Amino acid sequence: MSRNTIHPKVPKGTTLVIHPNRDEDLIFPAALLAAGELVAFPTETVYGLGADATDETAVAKIFKAKGRPSDNPLIVHVAQKSDIKDLVLEINPLAECLMNAFMPGPITLVMNKSSKIPDLVSAGLQTVGIRMPSHPIAERLIRLAGVPVAAPSANVSGSPSPTRAEHVEKDLTGKIPCIVDGGPCEVGLESTVVDVTGTWPVILRPGAVTLDMIVDVCLLSGIAAPDVAVMTHDQVENGEAPRAPGMKYRHYAPRAALSIVMPAVTSVVSKDRNDVLAAFLSKVREALLEDDGSTIGVFCGKETSVYMKKELSAASQNRVFFYLYGRNTDIEGAARGLFDGIRSLDEEGVKHIFAAGFVGNGLVKAYMNRLEKAAGDKKELDPLESYYTSHTRNVLFVCTGNTCRSPMAEAIFNILVKRNGDYTLKGESDTRVTLIGSSAGIFAENGSPAASNAAEAVRTLYGADLSGHRSRKIKKEMLEENDLILAVTSEHAAMLRRISPDNAGKMYSFSEYLHTKSIYLPLSETLSYTPDIPDPFGRDIGVYIKTARRLYDLLSAMWLAVLADLGIEILP
Ligand code: TXA
Ligand code: MG
Repeated sequence: MSRNTIHPKVPKGTTLVIHPNRDEDLIFPAALLAAGELVAFPTETVYGLGADATDETAVAKIFKAKGRPSDNPLIVHVAQKSDIKDLVLEINPLAECLMNAFMPGPITLVMNKSSKIPDLVSAGLQTVGIRMPSHPIAERLIRLAGVPVAAPSANVSGSPSPTRAEHVEKDLTGKIPCIVDGGPCEVGLESTVVDVTGTWPVILRPGAVTLDMIVDVCLLSGIAAPDVAVMTHDQVENGEAPRAPGMKYRHYAPRAALSIVMPAVTSVVSKDRNDVLAAFLSKVREALLEDDGSTIGVFCGKETSVYMKKELSAASQNRVFFYLYGRNTDIEGAARGLFDGIRSLDEEGVKHIFAAGFVGNGLVKAYMNRLEKAAGDKKELDPLESYYTSHTRNVLFVCTGNTCRSPMAEAIFNILVKRNGDYTLKGESDTRVTLIGSSAGIFAENGSPAASNAAEAVRTLYGADLSGHRSRKIKKEMLEENDLILAVTSEHAAMLRRISPDNAGKMYSFSEYLHTKSIYLPLSETLSYTPDIPDPFGRDIGVYIKTARRLYDLLSAMWLAVLADLGIEILP
């Protein structure tokens, strides 16, 4: 759309809200964009505040309207993939792979920018974030405007991102000429931001396109063993990873204090779930006891609210506002409702919001990332985290490449876990414990499958399935998080102790473990040779079978000692 055809005007200080029914309804807001004005519009993630990305004067208005720090770069939105090439220096194979897999959709790819992108947009960086939204209104609006559209979330800086047009109206009425109302946003959390300037993708902000989804397409498209690093909020705060400038700012802050109650979903048995509800209730009760008559907000699932309403007195209930996101375990619902929930509980004037936390991967990561930021320094130590972690025990097996010995050990360990029964905390026969074996390699690449002979050996001998195994390189955190770490040789164990001396107390090679715990092995063919487990890599299936048998016999002999070590026993 040429700037000379229409000169759209909205009186200064007024904000026009458009409810589009037909494409024609978007002509006016598109003309505003093309003329260098601001327009808020819906996307599948959150509402964006758009301006012509090639027009520095227009882009400056965004920073002014939002009160946004000028060192925080903006994402540039396009209507079609073919519009991207002019905005960046090159589209490398990694970028192309993720573009093909996830665009249009809730992902932003950070690439090296071309001279088309003004410095104001990229906040002086040499890179630019590119996004192609899948929302039909966003797509048509950008297409009609005929320009790439720079757009941050359409909220005042620091407040929760807007997922409904009413949220934008609250924050920006009078400050921008036009809001396009497309109803509530489908996803509810901002896009996944992925740096694709290197060989491997780096996730700068988690979103609805998850780590697993990204790893999967990279593997499928033959982008070799992607080492997908996830940048955490902490790393950014500590200055280790200053690549997503926006992450350092205070975000999503409600007026109320906000506490996270963990966890809405657990892998533990149903008895524990009631404990989770009870803990949620006691948090709310505690807050109600500070009897200054103030009200409390609860962002939770249906089951939790039913339970609480049953338990709370009528007088207490009058002081509690609920925002229900769906069933307790509905993470999509929780993500979609989070910002709306925080905003509407704030509107009620509550003093303290209690929000359900989730445990897990995928969308949970994005949800918890936003929730933790919203809680900010008002975040309370959640009462159930220690409870939760005390109810799983994790054992890590370590070899070199994490494709032969340690995945076999992991598989056999998990078979033994299943075969040997249910587990409880020692001396607490009604507290169930989940026992989990996993593996990693000191010199592993990330993402390689198990060696086919290794998979074959444990499948034929023990019915274990290694087809889903993907190698992982050892990380310091793994040595912190696991309760017991077993290495295939004493050399490996020594290396691990050097990586994390603080955790040396729970690291052993198999032979060191036997020795330390005074476990005497029955004389057998599989156990009678060298104390360490030699690498079968490249050998024939017979050698793998021997290795698997050996691991099985070792782990069986160690079993009771391992349980004792982990403070658990078998449910009688
Ligand atoms: O879903 C979304 O991404 C929404 C909708 C409107 O598209 N937009 C959005 O924009 O969330 P904003 O500005 O609120 O957040 C953009 C984030 C910031 O954390 C920013 O620092 C980061 O992306 N970002 C933008 N360009 C970047 C770049 N070149 N390098 C690193 N990070 C960048
Ligand atoms: Mg934002």
